[in-house]
Amino acid sequence: METNVPKRKEPGRSLRIKVISMGNAEVGKSCIIKRYCEKRFVSKYLATIGIDYGVTKVQVRDREIKVNIFDMAGHPFFYEVRNEFYKDTQGVILVYDVGQKDSFDALDAWLAEMKQELGPHGNMDNIIFVVCANKIDCAKHRCVDESEGRLWAESKGFLYFETSAQTGEGINEMFQTFYVSIVDLCENGGKRPTTNSSASFTKEQADTIRRIRSSKDSWDMLGVKPGASREEVNKAYRKLAVLLHPDKCVAPGSEDAFKAVVNARTALLKNIK
Ligand code: GTP
Ligand code: MG
Repeated sequence: METNVPKRKEPGRSLRIKVISMGNAEVGKSCIIKRYCEKRFVSKYLATIGIDYGVTKVQVRDREIKVNIFDMAGHPFFYEVRNEFYKDTQGVILVYDVGQKDSFDALDAWLAEMKQELGPHGNMDNIIFVVCANKIDCAKHRCVDESEGRLWAESKGFLYFETSAQTGEGINEMFQTFYVSIVDLCENGGKRPTTNSSASFTKEQADTIRRIRSSKDSWDMLGVKPGASREEVNKAYRKLAVLLHPDKCVAPGSEDAFKAVVNARTALLKNIK
């Protein structure tokens, strides 16, 4: 099995790691890296051609970390160039634009591309992923809210940060947590420490919240057929209430989903004789 354990120059002190950026074109990958490394923001869009490569040094606890950053082009046109760069990676910065739903929906396809390039022996479980919900400064155009992004990331065991390369919000915190997580992983023999490996909520809870968010009416939300009886509505409601009750469920968006279910039940019962 292929492992992602990086090469160490001096055991215990310096460490060399490889991180890559992934996400659709124009979501702000290069700007996030530039904001962190060069403390500046470029408003003009300069598409990355294939790959940009940079090296930076960071300090995590008592260790000096040499970071090789491969900033990938998001445009499909550059697939042939970037597909060689997925291997031997310890960390991935996965970016979407909170004002572009397509870029959020594309995150699964990015993971699939990486998985395919790593091949059948590649192991994505021992890579640290950080999801950046970028361009949060453009609040007016926002169409993917925090709980939706957080739910996607955390249900996969990924880190999640709200960022703006323009204002710098969230960028340092994101990189700091990202690098600490990678060092923890390296110190754990290249395996994700078990405490970070699983979400604190179930897949059923995450899937139910997503289903509720996209339901078309109150019947659909409760998962009952239009015209269902009071008993059927109450039964469906009780099942969802147990699954999503804020005292029991910590999944992002569970509180809103719970409220929506309560409202849906009230609305339906009003009209059932
Ligand atoms: P590719 O290299 O083509 O894959 O794109 P990219 O993801 O690297 O995007 P890039 O960083 O070049 O940014 C794309 C555009 O979005 C540029 O015009 C940036 O100025 C702008 N941009 C990036 N981050 C932010 C942000 O946080 N807020 C705002 N308002 N604009 C941003
Ligand atoms: Mg770029």
